[in-house]
Amino acid sequence: MPVETIKWQKNKVRIIDQTLLPHKVKFVSCTTPREMWKAIRTMKIRGAPALGIAAAFGVYLGVKNSQRAFFKDLDKTIKYIATSRPTARNLFWALERMRETAYRERYEPVSRIKHILLEEAKKILEEDKHICRKMARFGNALIKKGDTILTHCNAGGLATADYGTALGVIFMAHSSGKKIKVYADETRPLLQGARLTAWELRNEDIDTTLISDNMAASLMARGKIDKIIVGADRIARNGDTANKIGTYSVALSAHYHKIPFYVAAPLSTIDVKIKDGSFIPIEERHPDEVRKIGKEFIAPKNVKVFNPAFDVTPAKFITAIITEKGILRKPYGKSIKRAHAR
Ligand code: MRU
Repeated sequence: MPVETIKWQKNKVRIIDQTLLPHKVKFVSCTTPREMWKAIRTMKIRGAPALGIAAAFGVYLGVKNSQRAFFKDLDKTIKYIATSRPTARNLFWALERMRETAYRERYEPVSRIKHILLEEAKKILEEDKHICRKMARFGNALIKKGDTILTHCNAGGLATADYGTALGVIFMAHSSGKKIKVYADETRPLLQGARLTAWELRNEDIDTTLISDNMAASLMARGKIDKIIVGADRIARNGDTANKIGTYSVALSAHYHKIPFYVAAPLSTIDVKIKDGSFIPIEERHPDEVRKIGKEFIAPKNVKVFNPAFDVTPAKFITAIITEKGILRKPYGKSIKRAHAR
């Protein structure tokens, strides 16, 4: 059963609090843009497509009680939600889509525009469910019976509405009887691999082995990995891909060992406005995420820390990008353009 990461329920946005997983499955509600912003910033909800959905509902929450200053409130909310986290393209894509929807309907009564905005946020959520399953079907064609797949971070149901991008491909391969095995990188500092990916894979009864991040290259050298599939937070129009910190090292090791390295992401993750990965804003997070594991300090409290949340994998190390419009190959400049035109 896929996990319901985010849904609209009883006039509230209900999300699963991912900071408590895998120990506790707890749902929390957001009723204001501030609560939505906080949930995003503190990673109660995370993962690029899920952030897009959250941002869309956040916009509605910001205008639902608004009257005469409707468009002022709309612009203010959009600006505010945009400050929550900087890297995931889907968040900004969803904010732009909500703004365009509202302005397109600007001659309608305010009550009608509000209704349309809520419907648009629900549509973004429903579309994600279809898109992930489409990607999974395309990606499944790349998987052979008995493959062992490595993944990094969490690109599962928890990072989307309910199914996942990279993990969606894995779920589809598993349910089509391919008897795959998965290695999940734990993904320091916040352990999305250990806490979230391992949890999702075990819930589906998939043969899963957790490793610490520094073990991946050695497994590749021993011939234990057939394929790598990861998600993405933002893809530049030349195919350079930002994903959770550590992805670049995995891609480099895969390239050296001649192992296919796939990125699975919806077109809404592709930022066609930027020509390469050097333009992707990389979030830097609180030093304590590195000084601590969970609540425990594992380093001197006064040690300096560098904590970028993402890195950029150059397009040349990516074998293919799995999207809802099919499998994109190099040169990505051209295949991305074609996919957008389809
Ligand atoms: O910091 P996070 O947990 O939001 O980072 C998430 C990732 O890096 C995922 O791999 C990415 O968003 C793809 S999710 C389908």
